[in-house]
Amino acid sequence: MCGIVGYIGDLRATDVILNGLKKLEYRGYDSCGISFLDSSKKEFTTYKTVGRVDLLINSFDYNVENKVGIGHTRWATHGEPNQVNSHPHSSSSKRFIVVHNGVIDNYLELIARYLEGVKLISETDTEVIANLVEKFSQTMSAEEAVRKTLSLLEGSYALLIMDNEEVNKIYAAKNKSPLLIGSSDKGITFGSDLMALVGNSEYYYLIEDKTFIVAKTNGKPDFQAYDIIGKKVKLDQHKMDLADNEIDKGGYEHFMLKEISEQPAVIRRILAKYMVDGKLKISDEVKAKFINKKRIYIIAAGTSIHAGFIGKYYFENLTKIPTEVFIASEFAYNQPLLEKDGIFILISQSGETADLRACLVNIRQMGYPSLTITNVITSTLAREADMRLEIFAGPEIAVASTKAYVAQVTVLAILAYSLAKEKSFDLGFELSRVSIAMESLIDQKEYIEGLVTRKLKKRNCFYIGRGIDYYTSLEAALKLKEISYIQTEGFAAGELKHGTIALIEKDVPVIAIITQKNTSHNTRSNVHEVKARGATTIIISLESVADNSDDIILSDVHQMLAPLLSVVPTQLIAYYKAKELNLDIDKPRNLAKSVTVE
Ligand code: G6P
Repeated sequence: MCGIVGYIGDLRATDVILNGLKKLEYRGYDSCGISFLDSSKKEFTTYKTVGRVDLLINSFDYNVENKVGIGHTRWATHGEPNQVNSHPHSSSSKRFIVVHNGVIDNYLELIARYLEGVKLISETDTEVIANLVEKFSQTMSAEEAVRKTLSLLEGSYALLIMDNEEVNKIYAAKNKSPLLIGSSDKGITFGSDLMALVGNSEYYYLIEDKTFIVAKTNGKPDFQAYDIIGKKVKLDQHKMDLADNEIDKGGYEHFMLKEISEQPAVIRRILAKYMVDGKLKISDEVKAKFINKKRIYIIAAGTSIHAGFIGKYYFENLTKIPTEVFIASEFAYNQPLLEKDGIFILISQSGETADLRACLVNIRQMGYPSLTITNVITSTLAREADMRLEIFAGPEIAVASTKAYVAQVTVLAILAYSLAKEKSFDLGFELSRVSIAMESLIDQKEYIEGLVTRKLKKRNCFYIGRGIDYYTSLEAALKLKEISYIQTEGFAAGELKHGTIALIEKDVPVIAIITQKNTSHNTRSNVHEVKARGATTIIISLESVADNSDDIILSDVHQMLAPLLSVVPTQLIAYYKAKELNLDIDKPRNLAKSVTVE
């Protein structure tokens, strides 16, 4: 979703900012813009455009000395994606310039109360912030005006503000939306995501909600943070351990294919991280919180909820604790009846999904213990839950999640296994087998490309499966629709005949996932039903339950871990279909990698 980058220091600000905005492209956006101080004119220049950062780079001239600036990629919430609504926004006199992520809930009230007669040119809540600062600055210093404005804002924000009358300063503030600071001896960088800081920051600092920051250059670039009552606070310094080459395509045509190919290595990395003295282990602190728990509640959104369904299967089978899975946006405002002795697991690749954060606030208020399973251990959800487990997938840039999903399922398996009283198999060994099987499957990706060309010719498609194969079908369907825009449904194989089979006609593709002994026979019957009605079928099966004529036969792995393997051909099917249709695979339309608004 929206991205923010700001810079003050010795380097050319536009280089740092535009480079940072490119690194945030993966989050999804529809327009972008930049404001920077043209040192010769001593005032800020603003450029904006609808469309990609490359257009912003190629349409304007940055060949002037400039050392301070702010930039933004916008994913429209208030007002359509056009140039006027894109950021940065200025106050009416052009004195203050603002970029903002998040949503100000009370912006209409603020307009009515404080900005009567002020002409607003955009439909955004952000322009209101710029004008409030301007209004208050008429009777107080700019810094006080920013603080007063912040005290009035309800909702979420990560903000950077510049003042044409004090050009060597950037004000920053954060509440609920992510914002980080990067530093090196060359300058201070702000970013809404760690990625934006990679390459020019030696250290980074996490910012607590309601913190206010002033960054300036008085000779040396520096910053000072203040808490809500204006007291100076010291932010913890972390060494930047990501390098530029960890977030490039590494020779692959798309990030998505690179990330699919990394999955075997991700499983091995997770094994190494969670293996202690040859045994898979979860910290005692986390394990202790599960003692005597009568219910596990899993909350997630998008791809992560599909990992949650597999998690439910693991917890119920291995720990015998009944487990329920909830869609975050539903749970937040339509809470079900809850068991007193429950524990919550929040699954989120980014750790920033606003729908989950709304749930976490409720969960904490009710006094339930919470555990976040995430790829970003510095994220808001990781910091605000009682406990956290990292999935170690490495940066995932393609909007459609692949390796993070596999990593989530792997960590859920390790957690459930660690909590299990009886261990009837060696999970470490079985996960290693999965990673080997995945490797040989990925080596045959061209075969899957051919299958896609031959069999996926319609604008709709179905995935079917039973039990955990049904859960994989849900994820497989989401992947195909996300990046190829083909209308796809994941269906419980036995349920298809109760209505939806009406949609099956000649050549409609039905892809069946068959990895479980107890249901393979039934799913095959369902395949016959759709074939008899003209469907084009693809069968993905596990060797132990395979028929020689199946289209994709997966090497045998432990049946419980089959979802880790069977999802891979479905990711490749989505990838090759989107490629055939010449679509923007890594940045599909309308989608954002990290959805920071509810
Ligand atoms: C967005 C992304 C999805 C992702 C979902 C949940 O909608 O486009 O790919 O699955 O958010 O994200 P999370 O970071 O919480 O797992």
